[in-house]
Amino acid sequence: MSGKGRILVVDDESGIRFSLKGILEDEGFAVVEADTGEGALELLDAGEALDLVFLDIWLPGLDGLEVLSRLREDRPELPVVMISGHGTIETAVAAIKHGAFDFIEKPLSLEKVLLAAHKALEFSLLKQENMALRHSLGEAEVHLTGASPAMNSLREMIGQVAPTDAWVLITGENGTGKEIAARLLHGQSLRAAMPFVAVNCAAIPEELIESELFGHEKGAFTGADKAQIGKFELAHRGTLFLDEIGDMSLKTQAKILRILQEQRFEHVGGRKTITVDVRVLAATNKDLPAEIRCGNFREDLYYRLKVFPLTVPPLRERIGDIPLLIDDFVETLSRRGGCKRAVFSPETLAVLTTYPWPGNVRELKNFVERMLILAGGREITPDRLPPDITSQATVTAAPMQAAAPAAASSSAPLAVSAAADDDEIPDTFQAGPLDLKAARAAFEARFLEAKLREFGGNVSKLAEAVGLDRSSLYRKLKGYGIQVE
Ligand SMILES: Nc1ncnc2c1ncn2[C@@H]1O[C@H](COP(=O)(O)OP(=O)(O)OP(=O)(O)O)[C@@H](O)[C@H]1O
Ligand SMILES: [Mg+2]
Repeated sequence: MSGKGRILVVDDESGIRFSLKGILEDEGFAVVEADTGEGALELLDAGEALDLVFLDIWLPGLDGLEVLSRLREDRPELPVVMISGHGTIETAVAAIKHGAFDFIEKPLSLEKVLLAAHKALEFSLLKQENMALRHSLGEAEVHLTGASPAMNSLREMIGQVAPTDAWVLITGENGTGKEIAARLLHGQSLRAAMPFVAVNCAAIPEELIESELFGHEKGAFTGADKAQIGKFELAHRGTLFLDEIGDMSLKTQAKILRILQEQRFEHVGGRKTITVDVRVLAATNKDLPAEIRCGNFREDLYYRLKVFPLTVPPLRERIGDIPLLIDDFVETLSRRGGCKRAVFSPETLAVLTTYPWPGNVRELKNFVERMLILAGGREITPDRLPPDITSQATVTAAPMQAAAPAAASSSAPLAVSAAADDDEIPDTFQAGPLDLKAARAAFEARFLEAKLREFGGNVSKLAEAVGLDRSSLYRKLKGYGIQVE
């Protein structure tokens, strides 16, 4: 983007073009000129990126009103300010009825020119903001729930990279929140008011992806019965999110790489070059270095995209976030209606933190919805958990004491209330894959919760007893979703 915006001045009088150019350039705008209506349309057909047009009403050849009507058709989002001479004021008023934003009269006054320019640009910005807003209203507001160190640092990195124009590659397993991260990043960027356009590269058939991204001319291929604008153009001034980029064919990758470098391209079946200003965020759940080794992904594209890499960790590596996410989903789902709010008991939460969540946050969200529907407002206790969860959780509905021997070392300042029967293998240890880290965390959560209750909710006393400093204990409790007064 050049300065404050790019303005086209169309007038056959060179004196008018000269003074408009002077006024606008002094104000920081970039100015392009045309001396005929035909010349103006040629510039537009050539894909000149513009934010505003000053258009003379009387022009030799194609006149201002004809140019205006072509503009309304081809570039409805582009504001047009008519320039009217003596005797054309009535025409100028008519032009407004035909979609011109405003008009200014000759002789030109500096103030009026600038006022019209600013008003028109502000108006088109508002229109775009509105579009972006409408676009985002369909979805829930964007936030990344989680207080784990991994999530905190992800959020911090998003905050750092957002205001730059750097391209970002987001990697992570299915359902970890890559798209949420991308939307959050866009929302915190200087392009926030502009469109966020997401393209799922895996969902579009290979033969259609180019037309989807770059648009096509009428008749470009069988079935192209009308011209269509592509996602790159829709994302002009905003952000283009290329989702599942690892699923793009090598041919499309080559094309993307060129466009990413030059920010210009042609419609499929067209010859004019379109120039855009787009920030690209890409996401994948694939291991791109491995894909490069297999020859499925271009190394140069990888390095071009990976200007700033972000990784969204799988849920099983941040189990402290599980209770927070559950709270969040209970809240949004019950507020949305359709299911009653219900409480997940601490024992249930402990079991859930040991389930591996292969589908990550998306799986958790669907699970919460399913549980809320089934619970009908009653507390969700471990016995209500479905077998597909309990069969893979390393901790089941076992009572507190069952897990106790694992933590009751002789030096522990706290004696655990009751020891399990040594001869029996507690069922806590039977089901599910072996994941010591998860089991330890699950135990810790249950242990701390029970002890906190014993200490009447006094975090300082508990901290002293378990040999942690108060603030780290507090963070731990919060992380496990344990209520602290
Ligand atoms: N940290 C989070 N806080 C709140 N909701 C989240 C979080 N992470 C993910 N979600 C929710 O989980 C679902 C999946 O997230 P998203 O679509 O961003 O994942 P993804 O990584 O793009 O998945 P995929 O690889 O399958 O495309 C969405 O409904 C999203 O709202
Ligand atoms: Mg996604």
